[in-house]
Amino acid sequence: MVRPIKTAVFPVAGLGTRFLPATKAMPKEMLPVVDRPVIQIAVDEAREAGIEHFVFVTGRNKSVIEDHFDTAFELESVLKARGRQAEIDRLASGLPKPGQASFTRQREPLGLGHAVWCARQLVGDEPFALLLPDMVMHASPGCLRQMIDVYEARGGGNVLAVEEVPWDQVSRYGVVGAAEWQGNAFSVTGMVEKPRTQEEAPSNLIISGRYILQPDIFAEIEKQAPGAGGEIQITDAMIRLMARQPFHGLKYNGTTYDCGDKVGFLSANVAFALDRPDLAPGFRAALRRILGTDIP
Ligand code: G1P
Repeated sequence: MVRPIKTAVFPVAGLGTRFLPATKAMPKEMLPVVDRPVIQIAVDEAREAGIEHFVFVTGRNKSVIEDHFDTAFELESVLKARGRQAEIDRLASGLPKPGQASFTRQREPLGLGHAVWCARQLVGDEPFALLLPDMVMHASPGCLRQMIDVYEARGGGNVLAVEEVPWDQVSRYGVVGAAEWQGNAFSVTGMVEKPRTQEEAPSNLIISGRYILQPDIFAEIEKQAPGAGGEIQITDAMIRLMARQPFHGLKYNGTTYDCGDKVGFLSANVAFALDRPDLAPGFRAALRRILGTDIP
C-alpha cells in the first residue's frame, strides 16, 4: 500500500505584479474565473482528489484568502433571511471542513522552493500534493485526481503533471525529460528550470503546476542554493531528490491556463464560461457580437 495523499500545499504569497492595478489591494489568487476565485478552483480540485488538509502559504496582504475559506456570518444571515438557500449551500460546499485549513506565512519572497519549505511543520512526515493556484486546470476528472491514480498505480514516489507547450514558451517554465512511456505516464529523466535556450530544454513538456512530493523534499530544499532568478527553486530540490527516488510524469487529460499571464487568465474565463450551461448560450451570443463571427 502506498502512503495516501491527504495534504495539499497552496503557495499564495506572490505579489501579483503582472496584474496591477487589479492586485494592488487584492491578492491575485482572488481574481475570478467566471465566479470562482482561482484559489477556490485549486481547492475544489484538491477536494475532489480526496485531500483533507489544505495548507496555505500566505504573505502580508493575503488575509482575504483566510476569510474566503471561513463562514461569512453577516452575508449568510442576510441570504437566509431572503430565503436564498441555493447560494448558502453553494458557499458551504466550497469550504474545507472545520479544522481542515491551515495558514502559515512566507516572510520573504525567496522563491517557490522556500515557500514550500515554509509548510514543512504543517505537512509533517507525509507525502503531499503541491498546487500552484495560478495554473488553472480545466480537466475532468481533475488533474490531481489523475495524478493520484498514477501515484497509486506506479507504487508511490513523486509525480509531476506536465503539458506540451509551443517550443518558444519553454523558457518560462520548468521542463522535464521523458522516457519509458506507459499510456500518458512516463519516467522523468531530468528537469531544467527556465531553460535559457530551446537547446537547453530536454523537451517541450513543462511542469504545469501540480506535484505529488515525498516529505524528503524539505531536506533537499534546505540544502538548495538560489537558482534561476536568484530564487530557491523547487525544481532544483527535485533534481537532487531524483537521485534517490523515482519521479513519474503524467501528461494529464485536460488544459492548463496560466492565470499568472493576462492572455491565459482571459482564456480561462472563456473556456470555463463556455462550459457552464447557465452561461454558455448568452456568452456565445455576446462573443458573436464582439467577434462578428460564429465560434465553433
Ligand atoms: C514555477 C515552477 C516551474 C513551473 C511553473 C508553472 O515557476 O518553478 O517549474 O513550470 O511554476 O507555473 P513560476 O511560475 O513560479 O516562475
